[in-house]
Amino acid sequence: MIDLEAERALTPGCSDQVFLDSAGSSLPTTTTLEAVIGHLRREAEIGGYRAAAERSEDLARLPSSIGRLLGCDADLIALTDSATRAWSLFVTALDWQAGDRILICGNEYASNAIALLQRARITGCTVEIVPTAADGDVDLDALATMLDERVRLVSLVHVATNSGHVSRVREVVELAHGVGALVLLDACQSVGQLHVDVAALGVDALSATGRKWLRAPRGTGFLYVRRDVLAGLEPLAADLRGGAWTTPDTYELRPDASRFELWEHDVAGRLGLKDAVDHLLELGIVEVERVVRARAAELRAGLATVPGVELRDLGPDLGALVTFTIGGTEPDRVKAALLGSGVTVSVSGAGSTLLDMQARGLDAVVRASPHYFVSPGQIAQAVGAVERVAVS
Ligand SMILES: Cc1ncc(COP(=O)(O)O)c(C=O)c1O
Repeated sequence: MIDLEAERALTPGCSDQVFLDSAGSSLPTTTTLEAVIGHLRREAEIGGYRAAAERSEDLARLPSSIGRLLGCDADLIALTDSATRAWSLFVTALDWQAGDRILICGNEYASNAIALLQRARITGCTVEIVPTAADGDVDLDALATMLDERVRLVSLVHVATNSGHVSRVREVVELAHGVGALVLLDACQSVGQLHVDVAALGVDALSATGRKWLRAPRGTGFLYVRRDVLAGLEPLAADLRGGAWTTPDTYELRPDASRFELWEHDVAGRLGLKDAVDHLLELGIVEVERVVRARAAELRAGLATVPGVELRDLGPDLGALVTFTIGGTEPDRVKAALLGSGVTVSVSGAGSTLLDMQARGLDAVVRASPHYFVSPGQIAQAVGAVERVAVS
């Protein structure tokens, strides 16, 4: 059981506001904050290289902490500075040929789509959209008919940025693997919120960020690559961290996922990420998922009773991104009004998930994303604040 009061005491940022933006950038614990600031102070005292050397053991253990969280070996994790970086490192490491096909799904994230359209323009591969079923998930029958041996990659978003909907991953992976296609899972909104086990899901690669559900500093992220896939991948531009200059005209890539890493990085950020992941491991991700889902369900149930509020999450399996609109009120105005009542939410615009938002005729939705440190009382407070906005 998570000790709510202890967790809230460790999270000063949650005491004077109802913080419902862990899908944007969550609140760190005081220990994570101290890990970052303490290291920056140490860098100022003795210089960045000596300061990093002092923490080399902790830094070396970060990939195993992430591996424990995802259920994989440490050498399959590459540390990056964002989820998008991790995602594009994988995509650009594939040897694209004209005629190769890439499939994206209805909840695709804008940055991924842009990067794939760029690949298509540069290499002559194609990007095609898999239809969405009535329940908001990938239409598996349509996917099955689209798949053939020219499909190299299926890009799937685990939890979209604009909805609590949790995608069926295993079924997509089984179909894609049937024709030899790879599946890259954007788990930016699921890692830290849900129990994500890469072996059980069977994905070939996964990207995630630190700053959202992991409660780690901004500028942190990571890539997981399945062992069988890793050996064939050539990073677009490796440096002396990812490879070794062995003779004047040769180099060797590292055998593991660190081939994707760059030598220079934010050491303080990584120490913060380590602290945040270790904290989550202590709490237990299964328990965190249980509490987070419960808070989101309480919030949805409360919002469903407010006249004028329309919940916008679709599907049978909903995580903790609770999205809604209020009649004709602009989501940005709702966000500002809620902030005035001490409730922090964000807005997800059509540009981030174009396919889904266009299909549903939406310009923007309000997104409220409670983590486990939000108390049931605060959820009720948030519902009350939404009620006041809805009647105003
Ligand atoms: C589903 C999804 N994928 C990718 C990203 C991009 O993450 P980052 O900004 O850390 O690169 C986001 C950010 O909101 C997201 O919600």
